[in-house]
Amino acid sequence: MSKPLKLVIMSDLHLVPEGEVSNTLDTAARLHAAVDSVNRDHADADLCILAGDLADLGEADAYHRLRDIIALLSVDTHLMLGNHDDRPTFLAVMGADQADANGHVQKVIDIRGHRVILLDSSEPGLVEGVICPARLDWLAARLDEAMDRPVIVVLHHHVLPLSMPVDSIILRDGAALVDVLRRHPDIRQVIAGHVHITTTGVWRGIPFTTLAGGHYNVSVNLPGHAAPQDRLEGPGQYAVVLADQDSCVVHFENFLDRHPVIAPENFGRLRAARRGADA
Ligand SMILES: [Fe+2]
Repeated sequence: MSKPLKLVIMSDLHLVPEGEVSNTLDTAARLHAAVDSVNRDHADADLCILAGDLADLGEADAYHRLRDIIALLSVDTHLMLGNHDDRPTFLAVMGADQADANGHVQKVIDIRGHRVILLDSSEPGLVEGVICPARLDWLAARLDEAMDRPVIVVLHHHVLPLSMPVDSIILRDGAALVDVLRRHPDIRQVIAGHVHITTTGVWRGIPFTTLAGGHYNVSVNLPGHAAPQDRLEGPGQYAVVLADQDSCVVHFENFLDRHPVIAPENFGRLRAARRGADA
């Protein structure tokens, strides 16, 4: 039996310039811990995908730090953008070839009998995600090319509503994306970050997963919950996907396992005034 596909997916790194923290957290130290964890335990992975919110406020210094830290990864690494990222600054630091002809940071990777689609859901100036008509058409064409093999899609924004406060910044018109995904007979997973919580679900037969990512986590906060939603220091988490011709499993690797509540008076302090972003 051939070796299964193994993907590491990180998200929501929220890197800041040297000497700064984000919501009390040293996000560079957390990314170093994630890199150490991958190099120690998952050096055999085929790919590592960083699924957006690479930089907390999109500063060039944060992308320089990102470039330096991920150079330590022993796994082939691919970058995506989230709502906290700044596309022009990202491209200036990482290279214009990160974007396609339409300026979107997205691509397909065909590997071990699968097509992995990295889909850019970031839209300048918006916290919510957008898959515009051009991106929907691109996705449909990439799916049509791969009808004979399983597909895994990675994007930054969550598509499936979670009945949580974070649904206020969900991907816009997720139903249109689901319509396109349902053209393909074998979508194994649609994996996102953005929400800073681990979830899994299904929408019209398409499986959706979110990972908690490298930054703070949010507590479960469903309708009827008496307490307000807490933001927690951890875990720091990445996903490990194992997939073969018959199956696809998503594991959650907690490289930091801390769960203290971040005092509300400290959340957003110092940096919130610099940009009105959420999640
Ligand atoms: Fe985020």
